[in-house]
Parts: sequence; structure tokens; C-alpha cells
Amino acid sequence: MEHTFIMIKPDGVQRGLVGEIISRFEKKGFSLKGLKFLTVERSFAESHYADLSAKPFFNGLVEYIVSGPVVAMVWEGKSVVSTGRTIIGATNPLASAPGTIRGDFAIDIGRNIIHGSDSVESARKEIALWFPEGIAEWQSSLHSWIY
Ligand code: TYD
Repeated sequence: MEHTFIMIKPDGVQRGLVGEIISRFEKKGFSLKGLKFLTVERSFAESHYADLSAKPFFNGLVEYIVSGPVVAMVWEGKSVVSTGRTIIGATNPLASAPGTIRGDFAIDIGRNIIHGSDSVESARKEIALWFPEGIAEWQSSLHSWIY
């Protein structure tokens, strides 16, 4: 089964959007497999965003991520990586469709409240970085066709 890494960024936490965001993934039918609330070090944030290290916004992005606690999660489900990105919306919240998380709750690209893995391979790397201890193994006791 596919997994994705989702992080509620410091502004999402401070604006009280944790419940709303978790609720959207739960209601869709995805399963929560990992959850932690933590403030990360600068070097850790730099590792998470290593692919963007040459970008002009990199330092500001790292400052933002270390500025307060974040909620790190692993979600499981069919096509959860791409569908998670759809639920989150486009990177620039001004271009995110209404009904998406960024479309409904954000304005500034540099304060877009949530991260989601952009591929199955990135998800694998990000889950290994954020959950080196591994994730919960559980299956719903509902029938497999009940989401
Ligand atoms: P990126 O991986 O391109 O987007 P996404 O989060 O949708 O996968 O960029 C990572 C974060 O960097 C993005 O969520 C917000 C920030 N960012 C900026 O601050 N300015 C920019 O011009 C871009 C492209 C991203």
C-alpha cells in the first residue's frame, strides 16, 4: 500500500488548522500511520528541503520551517501521494483551487501551511528522514471496500 509524508507547517499549527487538515485526510478515507509534533533543527530542515538548496527562497523556507512546531504525519492509501497533493492544492496558494487546503486557508507561497510528498520516491525518503523508528502497522477492521 502507498504511503505519503504530510507536514503541517508552523503557521498551520499556530492558526489552529491541525484538526481541519487531519479531518480532510481522514474523511477522504486515508489511514493515519504516523504522527508527531516537534520543532526541527535547522540542519534537519535543510536535509528535508535539500533538493531546493540552490533556490533563492531556500534560506527563508528553512527559517520558516524551524520557526515553531510542526505536525509530521504518514498517511496510507491508494494513490495517496498524488491524491494528497490534490487535497493540498498548488504550491502558490493564490493559484490553488478553492476546496483545496491551500486554496481555502492560505495566500502567500512562502506561508502555504502544509507540505506533501511530490512522488512515491520522495515519500519514501521523507518518511525515512522523519520517522527513522518506523511507522505503525495496523489495518482497519472494516471490510476492505469500506473507506
Ligand atoms: P516545492 O517543493 O516547489 O513546492 P511544494 O511544497 O508544493 O511541493 O517548494 C517547497 C516550498 O518552498 C513550497 O511549499 C513553498 C516554498 N517556495 C517558496 O517560498 N517560493 C517559491 O517560489 C517556491 C517555488 C516555493
